[in-house]
Amino acid sequence: MQTDFGQDTPERGGRGLPGKAAVGHVPVLLKEAIDFLAVQRGGTYLDATVGLGGHSFEIAKRLGALGHLIGFDKDPAALAVAQKNLAPVDSRQSSVVSETDSGRPATNDQRSSQDWPTITLLHGSFAELAHDQPTAAIDGILADLGVSSLQLGDPARGFSFQADGPLDMRMNPLSGRTAEQVVNHLDERELADVIYEFGEERRSRRIARALVRSRPIQTTKHLVDVISAAARPMNKAERRIHPATRTFQALRIFVNRELDDLKALLEAAPRVLKPGGRLVIISFHSLEDRIVKDAMRDGAKQGLYRLLTKKPVIATEEEIDRNPRSRSAKMRAAERM
Ligand SMILES: C[S@@+](CC[C@H](N)C(=O)[O-])C[C@H]1O[C@@H](n2cnc3c(N)ncnc32)[C@H](O)[C@@H]1O
Repeated sequence: MQTDFGQDTPERGGRGLPGKAAVGHVPVLLKEAIDFLAVQRGGTYLDATVGLGGHSFEIAKRLGALGHLIGFDKDPAALAVAQKNLAPVDSRQSSVVSETDSGRPATNDQRSSQDWPTITLLHGSFAELAHDQPTAAIDGILADLGVSSLQLGDPARGFSFQADGPLDMRMNPLSGRTAEQVVNHLDERELADVIYEFGEERRSRRIARALVRSRPIQTTKHLVDVISAAARPMNKAERRIHPATRTFQALRIFVNRELDDLKALLEAAPRVLKPGGRLVIISFHSLEDRIVKDAMRDGAKQGLYRLLTKKPVIATEEEIDRNPRSRSAKMRAAERM
């Protein structure tokens, strides 16, 4: 199984995005995603995971003044960066609407740039926000799943096993249970199930037992130490990935309800896309990719989609060298019939 943890690098994208040097998230499969979206001038596009705006910026450039780009993110810190990165150079304005008052998207009418689309940034999960979109109104949906370098690189967010920090792991720090609450409050069996189901970790029971015995666990370092002692690599293959990789992935998926959110997005997509509209999803581990593959195939069987990718698109060797995070990326695309 492939995962998106561990090897992220703070390298630059070099595609002229404002603020990228400070933030350092390199958009994965950028050209491929934009090609499959086939952005229409004047269209309405939805970036379900706007992050720092890397993919969105390339969409916005192609939309023109009559276009509309709607970006979602669970993470207010990401939206604040995206707001800056996506503002037209001469006005630097866009709107961020909070989850609570997001019933009606705000738009930016004072935009002075001649050729820049309206950009609406909404705080919340794409699971709910996609359902709020009107029927057959969207020309393309992009979802670049997982965490951004902004999140992984900040030890205070607790996503990375490579730095010490509080055990949080919430993409939306304003709601939901933290990883600390999960690790310290689930019973041993529930913990083992989470680690097995969402981390595909064969040593889940042993790890869960060690976690329960070591409670309270409040930091990523303590968690890593307990897992490493409980799940020593038995062979060469196991030594290739850090022993905490799968458990961190499992906790993150559980804390953020990632697979349920993805299913909800995939359920909403055929309704909100216009005929001819494109759905492009970049996933980073096999659990996500399986859900995307099944939803697109089922949609194709029902006559809702034409599949644009029979096999997932993966990063070139050159992209992986430049951006190791792309090594586990898989992109699938479909067109609404
Ligand atoms: C890999 S990053 C996206 C990076 C972005 N494509 C870019 O180029 O800057 C994924 C982003 O999706 C957000 N995210 C993940 N799941 C989400 C969900 N269910 N709803 C909204 N945002 C989500 C994360 O907070 C993170 O900022």
